[in-house]
Order: sequence, then structure tokens, then C-alpha cells
Amino acid sequence: MAGRYGHQQTKIHEPELSLLTTASGVPIGDKRNSLTVGPRGPLLIQDAAFMEEMAHFNRERIPERVVHARGAGAFGYFEVTNDITQYCKAKVFSHVGKKTPIAVRFSTTTGELGSNDTVREPHGFAIKFYTEEGNWDLVGNHTPAFFIKDPILFPSLAHAQKKNPQTHLKDPNMFWDFVSLCPETLHEITHLFTDRGLPDGYRHMHGFGNHAFKLVNADGKPVYCKFHYKTNQGIKNLSSEQAKVIAGSDPDHALRDLLEAIAKGDYPSWTFSIQIMTFEQAEKMPFNPFDVTKVWYQKEFPLIPVGKLVLNRNPTNYFADVEQIALEPKNLVPGIEPSPDRVLQGRLFAYSDALRYRLGVNYTQIPVNRPQGVKVANYERDGHMVIDNQGNAPSYYPNSFGGPKDKAEYKEMVFHVSGDVDRYHNAETDDNFQVRKFYQKVLNDKQKQELCQNIASSLTGALQFIQDKSVKNFAAIDPDYGARVQKELDKLRAASQKKEESKPIFYQQKHY
Ligand code: HEM
Repeated sequence: MAGRYGHQQTKIHEPELSLLTTASGVPIGDKRNSLTVGPRGPLLIQDAAFMEEMAHFNRERIPERVVHARGAGAFGYFEVTNDITQYCKAKVFSHVGKKTPIAVRFSTTTGELGSNDTVREPHGFAIKFYTEEGNWDLVGNHTPAFFIKDPILFPSLAHAQKKNPQTHLKDPNMFWDFVSLCPETLHEITHLFTDRGLPDGYRHMHGFGNHAFKLVNADGKPVYCKFHYKTNQGIKNLSSEQAKVIAGSDPDHALRDLLEAIAKGDYPSWTFSIQIMTFEQAEKMPFNPFDVTKVWYQKEFPLIPVGKLVLNRNPTNYFADVEQIALEPKNLVPGIEPSPDRVLQGRLFAYSDALRYRLGVNYTQIPVNRPQGVKVANYERDGHMVIDNQGNAPSYYPNSFGGPKDKAEYKEMVFHVSGDVDRYHNAETDDNFQVRKFYQKVLNDKQKQELCQNIASSLTGALQFIQDKSVKNFAAIDPDYGARVQKELDKLRAASQKKEESKPIFYQQKHY
């Protein structure tokens, strides 16, 4: 029987499937009534079926992702449409027409699992490519730049966007305080507070790998690269007002949109491209090309088409396929390597650590995380919930009994680094130049106005000194930017003073 969302549901008429059993396969005689002493007496501990079901239920929840908890996923394929073997030897790009299975998870960032989909924040767009050389995970966002340039600030960035630890309320003071003290966030902030910050579902947004990566070709020649995946459905965004209404009427808006589109065969797709920067170009860049708060301009580093991503299959089980998917920036395949981007380097560790905590040490053995068409052969053994303990294969290395061996052709590219170890401040001489260009050259007057209104309606909830510092930072990008935000703040203040005057006094408390 075909389910509503396109997958096959269990055939309930098959006798061996319809027999109700315990988790150990023992048939259950009565599912509606627990064992009691007489019709009105107490329960017996020997009711194993009852005990098992209650105990399992109590353990159904696992820790949600500490960020990007809320999401939606789907499966499909990546198809190569243009040859890039001159840059990269990864087999996923080996020839035009090559198809590789993928899993994608989209997400919001700061809300809990049970929050709602229509929020103004970076939306995650993470792809697992099940390549013949193992899994390659590209864990990107829907905006091209990121907030911070050093991973040491990530927990603070996340805390500042989450709830106030005292009140458990979202607190504009925390968010805007952090932003005002870290003006390198303003590139991402400026993108987010335009209409692009509120995509209308996941199908209508682009994706960006954000970081610089390194590609290596079959001759061992490296280049730097950035990944882009542009929606073929067209960009569609929500206004702040629409988002509020949808949050109340359909909090699962983005999940539902993706599920329904795929179920009816309207498969979403994205055009996958790369930007290439040679090592020589990187040396001559006027800014740090590995600073993830910056973009590489497409005029200088044009998009080179590579392929397309198509999503054509819904998960058969949300928890198994989406909640348990493990996406890790450290999952790179031969031919794709990290660049020195500090934030990327921090992420190479952070996700796998989070996954060991969230899913357990054997998370790679969960079916959605298993490589496809590749045999995993290593010397890892045991641990919680091990499923494939590799039988009688040798468990130590080196060994004389035919255990798996390394192969030099898969070594990373050799590269040279030297320098004094220090905690270097990562600031550019001008951290604002790309934001300035975006504000002045990309946004039209109407978009500037909307941007400043959106910022003011969020910033107005923060304390006065935080508002003042923020306006100063916007003005440093462009005096017009600062002036417009200030004007919108003044308007909101005047309107709220009127409201406050008519409110009973105990509603006026704002800060904790
Ligand atoms: C999820 C850490 C920066 C995109 C996560 C998770 C952690 C994390 C711990 C949860 C992992 C899990 O439990 O499965 C960090 C750190 C960062 C950072 C430490 C910087 C130092 C970024 C950046 C991007 C990004 C720059 C985008 C380019 C995502 C996405 C997810 C995620 C899309 C959800 C993955 C999924 O769907 O399972 N991050 N993150 N993060 N992060 Fe980051």
C-alpha cells in the first residue's frame, strides 16, 4: 500500500508481519489488558510485555542536536553535468553523467526540536554523498558567509541566540550584545535581515558550503574551492508578518512543503557549482580567503557548473533517517581536503564529538550513516550498540592474518606550514568592506528600507546602550545604514511609549 508521502507502508495482511511480539520476538496474547490480580487488583511485575513497552517508551528521546535541532530530510542523487577532473580526483566527479546517492538534511539553527519553521536565521543545508570512496558530507547553510571567524566563539554565538538561562525566554539583549561586540558578524547579519533571511520552505533557498576547501587532482595539483548549490525552484521568501501567521497556523511549514512536493513527484533540484582559487591567487588576495565571514566575489572567481542535486525520495521513518543522520564536516573523500579556514578546522572536530554524545560511539553503524557500496574495514571494535563488530577479522594492526591495509595513493596532499604558535587576532584591516559593498551596490532602496526595519524590530528589544553600539556599527558600514536603523528604532520607540502608557504597570517590566 502506498503511503501518503510516497513510500510503501507495511502490508498488514501478511500473517508473519501482523503477529504482535515483544522486542525479543515472543508472541503477545493480549495487548489491551495488563496482568492483574483479579479484575480490580494490582499489576504484576511478571507482565514482561508491559514492562518492556513502558521502559522503552521512557527512553525514546535522545539529546536533540545542540544547534540545528529542527529539520527535515530527503534522499536523492547527485549527477555530474560538467567535467571538473582537471581540479579534483574525487570519484564522485569522475565523469559526466555519474550519479551518486545523497541524503540531505535541512534545518533551522537555534530553535528546539519542537519550535517552528518560519524563523529568521541561517537555515542548514547539509548533504551526505554516499560515494564509492566513502561518505562525503558537505554541511552548509543557506547564506554565503558566517557570523564568526574563530571557532572558539561558536558556543557563545549559539548561547547568545538561544534562550536566556534565567528566564528561558529569547532575549534580544544577549543576541545584540554579542553582535555589537563582534562586528565581524555584520556580513551575515545584513544578509539575514534582508528578505533572504526568511526562506519560504527549504526548496526555495540556495545552499553554500561557506568555507574554502582544497581540491586535489590526479596529478596531485591542489586548488582552493568553494561550493555553491542554487535552487532550481527559484528563491521564495516570507515577510516577517507572513512568518508570524504561519508559525501559529502551520509550525511544520517547511517540513510539510518538502514532504508534499516529493510525494507528488515534484522533485526539487539544485545546480551545484564551484569557485576555484589557485594557491598563487590566494597568496595575493587583499583579504584572508580562508575567513568564513567573507565571500569570494563571483566576478573574480566565477561559478563553474559541476552537477545537480535532485531529491526524489521521502524518509520512510523520520527518526531513523533524519534524527539519526550524522553529518560531519570531517567526512571528506580523497581529492577533497580542508583549507586552513579556522572555523572549518574547528568543525572538523566538533561534529563527531557531538555525535558520539548524541547518538553513541557507534553512530556510523546506523543504517542512514553507513557508506553505500563500500565495505567498512578498520580496527574499531565494541562500544555501545555495536552492530557490525567485523566478525573474526583481526582487531589489531599490523597483523599477519590478512587484516585491512592502508594504501599510499590515498594519502592527503603534502603541504608545508610554519610559523610561531600564538593566539593571532584574525581581524582584517577592514572587516566591513564586503558588507558595505552589499549594502551600497546589491540592495536597492526598498530592500535597504526593509533590512533596516527588520533589524530595528529585533534590536528595539535590547537595552539602550546595546542599541546605540549597534547603530554605531551599522553607521561604520555606511552612515545611511546607521541612520536608517536609528530612524526605525525611533519610530518603534515612539509607538511603544504610547502603548506602555496605556498598559497596567506590572506589564512594563522588560529586563531581568
Ligand atoms: C550542526 C557545531 C559552524 C552548519 C551542528 C552541530 C554542532 C555544530 C555541534 C550539531 C551536530 C549534531 O549533533 O548532529 C558547529 C561549530 C561551528 C559551526 C562548533 C563553528 C566553529 C557552522 C557553519 C555552518 C554550520 C559555519 C554552515 C556553513 C551546520 C548545519 C548543522 C550543524 C547545517 C546541522 C547538520 C544536520 O543537519 O545534522 N553544528 N557549527 N555550522 N551546523 Fe554547525
